[in-house]
Amino acid sequence: MKIRVLGSGAGGGFPQWNCNCDNCRRIRTGDMNAKARTQSSIAVSTDNNNWLLINASPDIRAQLEAFPAIHPKHGLRDTGIKAVLLMDSQIDHTTGLLMLREGKPLDIYCSEMVKQDLTTGFPVFNMLSHYCTVNHHPIPVDGSSFTIPAIADLRFYTQAIKSKAPPYSPHRHDPHDGDNIGVVIEQISTGKKVFYSPGLGEIEDHVMSAMQAADCLLIDGTFWTEDEMIDQGLGKKCASDMGHKAQSGAGGMIDILNGVSNARKILIHINNSNPILDEDSEPCKILAAAGIEIAYDGMEIDL
Ligand code: MLT
Ligand code: MN
Ligand code: ZN
Repeated sequence: MKIRVLGSGAGGGFPQWNCNCDNCRRIRTGDMNAKARTQSSIAVSTDNNNWLLINASPDIRAQLEAFPAIHPKHGLRDTGIKAVLLMDSQIDHTTGLLMLREGKPLDIYCSEMVKQDLTTGFPVFNMLSHYCTVNHHPIPVDGSSFTIPAIADLRFYTQAIKSKAPPYSPHRHDPHDGDNIGVVIEQISTGKKVFYSPGLGEIEDHVMSAMQAADCLLIDGTFWTEDEMIDQGLGKKCASDMGHKAQSGAGGMIDILNGVSNARKILIHINNSNPILDEDSEPCKILAAAGIEIAYDGMEIDL
């Protein structure tokens, strides 16, 4: 299985259009050893031809152009994207659907809760129905599995996880199973598994089990500290208020990953405020010492 990181940044990307924080300012002035990052999305394939897009970021146009394997190859209109899977209904994961409106009917796999948000508060499915057809495929939120016809040799296990519905959702302060999911993607012919969860606020037992059984983890790397946004004067919300588990501190993501033995460990969905973006920073060294990698745009993982 091949995984292409289309976008490794959190909402806003890096640098964020209106942000003059230490990181955003320094990458613009060239005073930082860092990579710019577009917003959160990956693509998965087993034949390098037929791709599942997981999340559709507002940066999708540039992300697809930067990735030849997904370009149109046959006839006048074509794409390597055969289906879309959504992890939640957050703006950074769904607004890119609007950019796919010129295409054929879109096969979109998402939970009932995500479908509700995308037909009410942010009615992108309704809007797209005036441009192309949306075929919504409901997915399990109890960890059971499904397959996607056009994406051969992969099996998907989707399960509700604890993070946050978007601020526009009626579920923001009234959580329901399926507002956010984690996915285990298994290649049927090899048994290799990746666990993907770009927004992960709590590590429940079923999440730990999925992580222990995976060969590779691509998980929430949004914030280094719980109070990062507040400390930098960028906002009023803690990491946990936004449904993200910070990396540092007791019980943080590094501690949790230290308890996972075999998997390749990769952080994804990095917010522009996160000091790990500075490749010469102390936090970056701490991650390296813990055997934890940081995803970047264009990263490819072969499993
Ligand atoms: C998040 O991951 O918490 C959201 O994407 C934040 C946002 O909408 O900018
Ligand atoms: Mn996000
Ligand atoms: Zn910033």
